[in-house]
Amino acid sequence: MFRSAALLCPIAYLNRIQSILTKAAAQLHLVEELDSLGYSEFPPGWDILGPILEKICNEAGTNCSDIMTALTGPNCCVNTSKASVLLKHEPQPTATKNIIHLSQMIRTGTIAMYDYGSEDEKRKQYGNSSPPVHDMRNIPKELPLFLGYGGQDMLADVEDVKALLNDLKDHEEGELFQVYSEEYAHADFVLGVNASQVVYDPMISFLNLH
Ligand SMILES: *[C@@H]1O[C@H](CO)[C@@H](O)[C@H](O)[C@H]1NC(C)=O
Ligand SMILES: *[C@@H]1O[C@H](CO)[C@@H](O)[C@H](O)[C@H]1NC(C)=O
Ligand SMILES: *[C@@H]1O[C@H](CO)[C@@H](O)[C@H](O)[C@H]1NC(C)=O
Repeated sequence: MFRSAALLCPIAYLNRIQSILTKAAAQLHLVEELDSLGYSEFPPGWDILGPILEKICNEAGTNCSDIMTALTGPNCCVNTSKASVLLKHEPQPTATKNIIHLSQMIRTGTIAMYDYGSEDEKRKQYGNSSPPVHDMRNIPKELPLFLGYGGQDMLADVEDVKALLNDLKDHEEGELFQVYSEEYAHADFVLGVNASQVVYDPMISFLNLH
């Protein structure tokens, strides 16, 4: 189905995630709670989310005055005078179920399908009592891959990305292109003032070749 793939800050393994806020939200089953209250879109709006985040930040003893940093890491290169414009378009909503799935992966450290919780539902969905695990080693060794990651990323943690790279260690030589920036955190990949040089030029070259 794919001729090649470019992965930026890939969230595959998630159990070494550095963001205290994200980790606490997963451990507290925050999104499961929102789901049970009927919020099927995430985030549910700042009026709902704001007070909850404030509580988590206080309990976790983490300074969330800068919510983007608390979630994505200390971005080196986001233009602060443009940040408010950019933040008007962030975060983009997704299904609550998607975030629950990511929370499950943070808690378990596996890359598995969605865990429906009840034994009956799991049997119905998967014919099995546990959700099937995706084996990253099944990624075809000859598939051209581009992988970009950053040293300050608090969502796609370097150690988690290394676990993924370890699964790809038998990838065909020359078919795995890596771009690593020590200074970059998660949002720099999209919003960094020099992201075009650091990320997009090499990525476009890769895509032009494959
Ligand atoms: C949190 O960080 C902001 C910005 O760096 C700072 O102004 C504020 O004093 C900090 N708050 C606490 C409680 O440390
Ligand atoms: C940051 O944004 C301001 C306001 O839009 C702009 O004037 C400035 O050139 C930007 N700086 C960089 C390094 O892109
Ligand atoms: C991108 O910007 C950061 C911060 O200013 C700098 O450390 C880095 O060297 C720059 N990278 C390139 C390729 O321009």
